[in-house]
Amino acid sequence: MAELQDSDNAESYVALDLFQPPTAHEQRFSSALEKAIAKVESLIPQFGLRNPRISKPGTRQYHFCIPDEWVASFWPGQLWLAHSVTAREVFKNSARMRRPYFRKVLETPQWHDHDLGFLFTLSCVADYKLTGDETSRKMALRAADFLAARWRHPMPFVMCWNPMKRDGEEFAARKTGTLNIDSMQGMALLFWAAKETGQSSYADIANLHLDTCGKYLIRDDYSSYHCYEFDPRTGKPIGGYTHQGLSDESCWSRGQAWAIHGYAQSYLHTLNSSYRDTAAHMADYIEDKLPEDGVPLWDYNLPKEKHPYRDTSAAAITAAGLYTLAQGFGSVEAAEKYTKLADRILSGLVEHHDITADASSQGLLKEGAAFVELGRADNMLPYGDYYYLESLMRAVGHTEFFW
Ligand code: GLY
Repeated sequence: MAELQDSDNAESYVALDLFQPPTAHEQRFSSALEKAIAKVESLIPQFGLRNPRISKPGTRQYHFCIPDEWVASFWPGQLWLAHSVTAREVFKNSARMRRPYFRKVLETPQWHDHDLGFLFTLSCVADYKLTGDETSRKMALRAADFLAARWRHPMPFVMCWNPMKRDGEEFAARKTGTLNIDSMQGMALLFWAAKETGQSSYADIANLHLDTCGKYLIRDDYSSYHCYEFDPRTGKPIGGYTHQGLSDESCWSRGQAWAIHGYAQSYLHTLNSSYRDTAAHMADYIEDKLPEDGVPLWDYNLPKEKHPYRDTSAAAITAAGLYTLAQGFGSVEAAEKYTKLADRILSGLVEHHDITADASSQGLLKEGAAFVELGRADNMLPYGDYYYLESLMRAVGHTEFFW
């Protein structure tokens, strides 16, 4: 890090000495990015105002979101990414037309959970960052208020889930006291709100949450629990368990991916080196567990007798997180190491899982695994598509995103 000083106004600040190593596959990734953006444009008239949710089994056609869906922002997020690359109005207009959906989310407190982070970062924060739109700024700040208000003493984290009617009795009882790893990305909304308003309490709550994630969700070997349960009356830690992974002690691939990306981006927000180092150790944990093409199975501890479903969404989130991590390393050696690993995973996606050339497909990637134990595997997933686009952009040198 280099210390810069402005002697005239006596204001000093620290600038990051960042190094973004070049990808080894510039041509391949640029061409995949171009095709992905063309695909997104071709889907605009097909989707209308709907947001994709998950593909219908055995097809490359999407089911669409009903109200109260955590995935509703990943299509607008793709539109905003495409707008940031092309500056074309068609993407902006299509993304902006979805604002009533997000207004409805703000007006419906019973829908609020940690997913406010995903929902508002990829819709209203994206809009504000790219266009300066004041309405979007206000909506995103309102969402940040709701998210921050989910920190309830004595729990050392932002409450992630609410019990729902559809939950089994045991799970519903556990949910209030559960910290989940999916929540880490959402802390970006709080870091953004802190910078935007100058009110550090948003960032304080995000840091409290991330520190608790590090203490309880990340194991000593840098694998991760999906969930960690606490006693909601006392805040006392109870133990780790899984919801979407193979077993309580296994390492769910998408959970590991959320943490790698979440800590890498949080490092860029805070310069807290423990976030960067944890992301790096978690990346080291997965390196020798990846199949040859770099695209992980849905759980890193899957035994041979289980069907080897891939999770391309985990691959895409991990690749985007690794490029972000590389961006956070001033050390050339470490930046190159994580760029190389990201390149490997992203190459696997481009070569084996990219379905943009299939004119009948409504998504970018096949073989996502939403929730294998519920039979939701081998799907297209809007978050897989979103992070695929993000990682292709990061690979070719973009560094400004909405997180
Ligand atoms: N619920 C977040 C995920 O499936 O990753």
